[in-house]
Amino acid sequence: MRLPGDKSISHRALIFGALATGTTRIRGLLEAEDVVNTARAVSALGAAAEKHGDVWEVKGRGPGGLRQPAGPLDFGNSGTGTRLMMGVVAGHPITVEMTGDASLSRRPMRRVLGPLMQMGLQVLEPGKETLPLTLRGCSDLIPIIYPLPVPSAQVKSAVLLAGLHAAGETTVIEHEATRDHTERMLRYFGADVRIVDKDGARYITVKGDAELSGRDIVVPGDPSSAAFLAAAALIVPGSDITIEGVLVNPTRTGLYTTLQEMGGDIAFLNEREEGGEPIADVRVRASELKGVRVPAERAPSMIDEYPVLAAISAFAKGKTQMDGLAELKVKESDRLQATATGLEANGVSVRIDGDSLIVDGKQRMRGGGSVATHLDHRIAMAFLTAGLASDKPIVVDDTSMIATSFPEFQGMMETLGARFEEAPEQ
Ligand code: S3P
Repeated sequence: MRLPGDKSISHRALIFGALATGTTRIRGLLEAEDVVNTARAVSALGAAAEKHGDVWEVKGRGPGGLRQPAGPLDFGNSGTGTRLMMGVVAGHPITVEMTGDASLSRRPMRRVLGPLMQMGLQVLEPGKETLPLTLRGCSDLIPIIYPLPVPSAQVKSAVLLAGLHAAGETTVIEHEATRDHTERMLRYFGADVRIVDKDGARYITVKGDAELSGRDIVVPGDPSSAAFLAAAALIVPGSDITIEGVLVNPTRTGLYTTLQEMGGDIAFLNEREEGGEPIADVRVRASELKGVRVPAERAPSMIDEYPVLAAISAFAKGKTQMDGLAELKVKESDRLQATATGLEANGVSVRIDGDSLIVDGKQRMRGGGSVATHLDHRIAMAFLTAGLASDKPIVVDDTSMIATSFPEFQGMMETLGARFEEAPEQ
């Protein structure tokens, strides 16, 4: 199988392309709703993003060169698009209204607005911390040194993007490594980025008044989408699949480490580098799994993969305990609760204990339950994947959100032998 492009890298390629001088050409861009909304947003800000043949081209406006959009920017379901673009807007003397769907309009924005306001961003609805929001940026941001209070690549990226437009050096300090695509891609575009590891923390510094140049980018396959195929292969007897060209950046591969610890037969083959990111072909064969304890420190490197891990933990022998899941509560839905409720509905014994999720693996799942997806694509895909091996089919209440990240999900699963049916009205 060959998967569509990584969502995190796709957003960044469009955004950095918009800030660069000259044209950026992107191959393998993920054409899912979240990313298409970011493409529309950069176009509305004056950096036209268009597809020509297989390649997306972004006509960059150079740092500080974006212009006032004619109307609100709608980010749909995407926290990444919204929060990264807040960092961009901060550095421009423009006023922008940002909107999103019901899920996005519930998600916390203070974590990004806080540091950006220290740098000079204005929020025109004082005290409001959820979308819709109207932001006014400025061309002389103040550089800051910002220790991340939550392990979030979106917050880190927003501050670094604003830092590109500040007069001086902006530093983000992280105590837990989060995905580092922003740092890698900023360097690739020619920005001055310094990374220093000191006393167990990472200091990431970007120089302001940066000059970025348009580049050619090839987007690797999304490991968070590959996770559903890998999980399916592990739990469906006789499976043996290879997923080609998957991003295997260590800040993203926590799930694969965990599945190997559970006894999963998973191999990274043909490891290589493409556009500054490590990639590999991932071979997965059906395996007998055993329960494990997943340490809290690993959470940032697999934060989007807990719903599917929890789902397939039911097929393992023994208990799987996943620690340090506080951030799961503020994703597209409260994923901690949505995952536990969905598992319970399908006959799995599961418990939430503070920020931990504990699944009692019985090497099978009864299924037959209906899962509330709460506008969350990964809840829908995780439970449909579990349904491939459950005793009875699993019903999810909404599949439309899958198009936000992985529109090819159903088609690819069908190629591998899955069967989907529209459930009768209940
Ligand atoms: C992302 C960061 C993560 C992740 C999201 C994509 C990114 O969010 O859950 O799907 O591209 O920076 P947080 O920064 O909120 O952890």
